Amino acid sequence: AEHPYSHLIDTVKDGTIKFFNPQKLNDPRYDKLPLSIRVMLEATIRNCDGVYTKEEDVQNILDWQQQQNKAEVPFSPARVLLQDFTGIPAMVDLAAMRDAVAKHGVDPSLVNPKCPTDLIVDHSLQIDFSKWSLKNQEMELIRNKERLQFFKWCSKAFKNVNVVPPDVGAVHQVNLEYLSRVVQLSDGFIYPDSVVGTDSHTTMINGLGILGWGVGGIESEAVMLGQPVSLTLPQVVGCKLVGSINPLTTSIDIVLGITKHLRQAGIAGKFVEFFGPGVSQLSAPDRTTIANMCPEYNATVSFFPVDQVTLKHFKKTNFTQEKLELLESYMKAVKLFRSYEDPSEDPEYSEVIEINLSSMVPYVSGPKRPQDRVAVGDMKEDFQSCLDEKVGFKGFHISKEKQEIRVPFLHCGQEYQLAHGSVVIAAVISCTNNCNPSVMLTAGLLAKKAVEAGLVVKPYIRTSLAPGSGMVTHYLSTSGVLPYFNQLGFEVIGYGCATCVGNTAPLPEAVVDAIKQGDLVACGVLSGNRHFEGRLCDCVRANYLASPPLVVAYAIAGTVGIDFEKEPLGVTSEGKEVFLRDIWPSREEVQQTEEDTVISSIFKELRGRMKVKRFFVFNIECSDSVVFPWDPKSTYIRSPSFFSRLELPQPQSIENAHALLFLGDKVTTDHISPAGSIARVSAAAKYLLSKRLTPREFNSYGARRGNDAVMTRGTFASIKLCNRFMGKPGPKTLHIPSGQTMDVFEAAERYQRDGIPLIILAGKDYGSGNSRDWVAKGPYLMGVRAVIAESFEKLHKNQLVGMGIMPLQFLPGQNADSLELNGKERFTISLPDTLSPRQQLSVQVNASFMSTHVNPDLCSTFHSLLALNINKCFVYGGWHLKIVHRNARDSGE
Ligand SMILES: *[C@@H]1O[C@H](CO)[C@@H](O)[C@H](O)[C@H]1NC(C)=O
Ligand SMILES: *[C@@H]1O[C@H](CO)[C@@H](O)[C@H](O)[C@H]1NC(C)=O
Ligand SMILES: *[C@@H]1O[C@H](CO)[C@@H](O)[C@H](O)[C@H]1NC(C)=O
Ligand SMILES: *[C@@H]1O[C@H](CO)[C@@H](O)[C@H](O)[C@H]1NC(C)=O
Repeated sequence: AEHPYSHLIDTVKDGTIKFFNPQKLNDPRYDKLPLSIRVMLEATIRNCDGVYTKEEDVQNILDWQQQQNKAEVPFSPARVLLQDFTGIPAMVDLAAMRDAVAKHGVDPSLVNPKCPTDLIVDHSLQIDFSKWSLKNQEMELIRNKERLQFFKWCSKAFKNVNVVPPDVGAVHQVNLEYLSRVVQLSDGFIYPDSVVGTDSHTTMINGLGILGWGVGGIESEAVMLGQPVSLTLPQVVGCKLVGSINPLTTSIDIVLGITKHLRQAGIAGKFVEFFGPGVSQLSAPDRTTIANMCPEYNATVSFFPVDQVTLKHFKKTNFTQEKLELLESYMKAVKLFRSYEDPSEDPEYSEVIEINLSSMVPYVSGPKRPQDRVAVGDMKEDFQSCLDEKVGFKGFHISKEKQEIRVPFLHCGQEYQLAHGSVVIAAVISCTNNCNPSVMLTAGLLAKKAVEAGLVVKPYIRTSLAPGSGMVTHYLSTSGVLPYFNQLGFEVIGYGCATCVGNTAPLPEAVVDAIKQGDLVACGVLSGNRHFEGRLCDCVRANYLASPPLVVAYAIAGTVGIDFEKEPLGVTSEGKEVFLRDIWPSREEVQQTEEDTVISSIFKELRGRMKVKRFFVFNIECSDSVVFPWDPKSTYIRSPSFFSRLELPQPQSIENAHALLFLGDKVTTDHISPAGSIARVSAAAKYLLSKRLTPREFNSYGARRGNDAVMTRGTFASIKLCNRFMGKPGPKTLHIPSGQTMDVFEAAERYQRDGIPLIILAGKDYGSGNSRDWVAKGPYLMGVRAVIAESFEKLHKNQLVGMGIMPLQFLPGQNADSLELNGKERFTISLPDTLSPRQQLSVQVNASFMSTHVNPDLCSTFHSLLALNINKCFVYGGWHLKIVHRNARDSGE
């Protein structure tokens, strides 16, 4: 049939490339829409098929001013991003689908993702790295051979699947630097790039004007199979940046400053879109860093519309001039290109928050908690007051007469002194900030200028440099600053977040003795913005988080008790005083270095690795078959049983179900499907032992997500699970008919054998924590048909519906206790025969139990009927269940 919006088709590039031009709707509302909503509108127009996406949806989005926070709309992203932990089960499912259709005489090669999918093999292969060596990588490759063979088969067998082999880079980096396109070209059409991903850093991409956010594994699978994501049309908070950036302020300070503003603004669940003249001062990496922080303030995305800065960034990657021109003329034609200086282009937002960039000054955090921020200018005073204050988050309670103490000691034959505030550990770590080269470069350029000015770091200070990845080392080296880091004592000690905390070499004994002797409050300064544990070393009582350049500055100063404005950082051997401002690199200098060396070389490096490693991985042999040759001996990859019957898991009425578990509040995805090690006494361990594996070969649940037998046994196998049927935490439950206690899996197996459907009773916030598809698949394979809880985490609720498990919610104020349930009732839930997308639905749950007041000898059962009433909306991929009912309590039937 003809596309309902074919009249909007326009062309660029001399008519060779087509696009849907929403401007041809001639609707004045379009020009007022936030640009992020325009991206959604375009996708909805282009994907309008009358089934998943309707003209009504297009109208609703166009009517965003009225419909925000009301209408439920579909969104079809341009691509899906999977990391290997979530990618394995998704691809295993697709492979199993091929088997299933082949069994029914259909050509299995027709089963492919509809939406282009990039799978980045990253986590599971790096997780065991303690040292960065080729030998380790080879060992990992051997250990992970089965999974690599499978991935390689996927990349050959499926259309629309691109597998990025191990060790090219972290997911978000590859996404940012390699996969991002700003616009997509397919079938002669050009359209904006957009993505949903299972990586928690997916939102970073919004810094490049690409709309995207994180979803659960099951939702991403639905998108791969061509279904849109369903969401409530979001409110969009306009974040207006004004003023100019203070020269001592790094990107991280700006990020933290903006994050703080946004956190206070309370924008949970909304889109944030940046505008105002200040935006052009932020480089593309600055923007992606800000976008990466949006989980901190609970925004769905932080969107930076494409402008000249974005184009400049892509010029440094692989975009040819021709491509850049095409993208610019397309983005301009559909009004997705911003000139931030021109306020006449500003859209109308749900609300506006104004942030003055001049108000942002550099901060450090500490001495004990990351949330205690101190402006660098106040540091000296603040540390003094920490010495005075009584012991607490901001106090050490050092008596006045002991505050001035100086303890001399010898180090390598030279005498030094330690005092309160002396820095003994200085760690430049690029963990969450490795995406933002400018901060590490600022530190490097500062190191360079310090060395050139003749400054040194005292040799007893444990200095270290832990770049987040080889990439960081690479650009520190290509920009020429690495040798200066080394000259100041900052040597590369390792990669990855493992080095963030406590992994530095021990302090020299003389230093430890001096600290003990004077009972000194010695300090550690480290960069990184999340991994604050306050336990760098037992003898270091004050730990500060600071930006990488400030770590360098405090290391040179040797103390945190310094006012950089008034006191010199150090004195050269000629006795000349050098102030921090004398050697602090300017923002322009940093951005110039970044442009000249970093961006293009990161990209080149990534491409190089892509080629080399691809070849490496491709040395692993794999079959050319259309269906996957499952190896019955494999304990990593197994065909799951979902498709043994060709029917979709759907919510269905159930009768006389038992509660498998009776849970309390805040059951997390870690309780439901732990990712960590497999306990030796667990059901999964019994299975693996039966496959002749030794406990050393068990690996983790995370690594075994391609094996449904292990994952089902691992469901609710957390030792922290608090089941109200049991007296203490553990992965056990009560098998109600027999009254026996057993592993949750074992109980589920018995219920299934007896044909008894299962439900789970739970409290508030069921299913919070990071999403993994086994949190819904596991319960499904266990026979769980409904979860009745006080509230659900939204992602998890969607996943349950995706697996046909009903997420039912008690009426506000009600719970299992208020309804006097003890969990041993039998539950009957009836649904109407047909459910249709976005239907509002009420569900009655009858819970019946045998009364203990009746003499069992009478052989009569006495049922009390409860109706649990539910009035929350559940939305998943078009299903929309609204459950409202009375709370009746009959008895005596
Ligand atoms: C931002 O703050 C600076 C310094 O506080 C002030 O001079 C400037 O006028 C402010 N800019 C705007 C646009 O409010
Ligand atoms: C973000 O969401 C979490 C969980 O829903 C909540 O605990 C937290 O208070 C929220 N934070 C903000 C800043 O809204
Ligand atoms: C990068 O550019 C080169 C040469 O223009 C091209 O062959 C290659 O496919 C491009 N890579 C990507 C990822 O676009
Ligand atoms: C629940 O109990 C009520 C009252 O006895 C009855 O009318 C209703 O049909 C029952 N519903 C189910 C699902 O059994």
